[in-house]
Amino acid sequence: MNRVFGIGIIGTGAIALKHAQAISSLSNAKLLGLFNPNPTSAQKAQGNYSVPVISDWEKFSKIPGLDVVCICTPSGLHLDPALKAIEAGLHLFIEKPIEVTLRRADELIQSAEQKGVKLGVVFQNRFSPDFQMLNTAVKQGEFGKLLMGNAAVNWFRSAEYYSSSQWKGTLKGDGGGALINQAIHTLDLLLEVMGEVDSVFGKIKTALYPIEGEDLGAALVNFKSGAIGTITAGTSLFPGYPERLEIFGTEGSAILEAGKLVQWNVKGKESPIRTEGTVQTSGSSDPNAIGFELHAAQWRDFLGSIETGNLPEVDGLKSRKSLELIQGIYQSSKDEKLIRFPFEE
Ligand SMILES: NC(=O)c1ccc[n+]([C@@H]2O[C@H](COP(=O)([O-])OP(=O)(O)OC[C@H]3O[C@@H](n4cnc5c(N)ncnc54)[C@H](O)[C@@H]3O)[C@@H](O)[C@H]2O)c1
Repeated sequence: MNRVFGIGIIGTGAIALKHAQAISSLSNAKLLGLFNPNPTSAQKAQGNYSVPVISDWEKFSKIPGLDVVCICTPSGLHLDPALKAIEAGLHLFIEKPIEVTLRRADELIQSAEQKGVKLGVVFQNRFSPDFQMLNTAVKQGEFGKLLMGNAAVNWFRSAEYYSSSQWKGTLKGDGGGALINQAIHTLDLLLEVMGEVDSVFGKIKTALYPIEGEDLGAALVNFKSGAIGTITAGTSLFPGYPERLEIFGTEGSAILEAGKLVQWNVKGKESPIRTEGTVQTSGSSDPNAIGFELHAAQWRDFLGSIETGNLPEVDGLKSRKSLELIQGIYQSSKDEKLIRFPFEE
């Protein structure tokens, strides 16, 4: 594992900065440059970086030694730069959600596969050690047969969060609101633990803010295993509480809050969780409150998958599952009916 990967970042906003921090913490990755097609934005961003921020695609994509690009553009603008990067033979590490519709996600996944470039999608919360412990225990049957899985992402964003952004809360740029932008992380974890969805009944609302997408949502999920589950999500729920994932099985239950296990109760067994230690940061009320360490852990996994030829923890198809669930909830709310899976837009 001596190879050092040359990395470029596309987009120069909030999450690009976290990726730059994550990359600089890795011994096998080197940030070579960033890309923003808008010369004024590129120039403005230059102050934050010691590597060039470039507005000419040809120049950026031909940086000597560039292996991987990290796509940090607005969610509905992932596909276009991804297709250009695929054409240039670059591996792709894309921020969540992979794209805002299943059709756009599929085009991206198929194009990457055809060209033989690696595709990873950022769901950094999978790399929380406590989530990994929970997931392993579920897969080993520690909690027995799963009965119920609940995800609650009852968050708050200020009016300024939406009014100061060109794309957040818009259908084209964000694909919706609280579910597809914020709750998707916890829905990804819910699906990883609970397995395939059989059907969903959902309700979304734009309750507080003048946005196109939802700032409130709830759903009832039937899993293929026979287990049931609930989802609640919002960016209108003051003051915003740490996101929760609750798992109940025939032998016991566990609760993960902001990436930390806060409950673990299995019949006749001692709880393995530590109550001391720092509580992981949550974006419950402040989108910038997240650290870069989990991003760095996922970078390690993704670069490792390029070296070994194995699948990364989250490839395109895995990342599509939470998007499919969210699109199913949107459709259910629109049609006021139960949606069966697999769901097609
Ligand atoms: N994993 C996480 O926890 C996390 C957190 C925040 C955001 N995100 C995701 O990261 C993405 C970006 O979010 P953000 O908060 O950084 O947004 P942002 O608005 O702060 O930044 C977006 C950047 O993209 C640039 N841009 C727009 N169109 C472009 C194009 N065609 N090519 C290159 N650059 C372009 C903008 O100038 C801006 O610099 C979104 O998909 C979002 O869902 C993930």
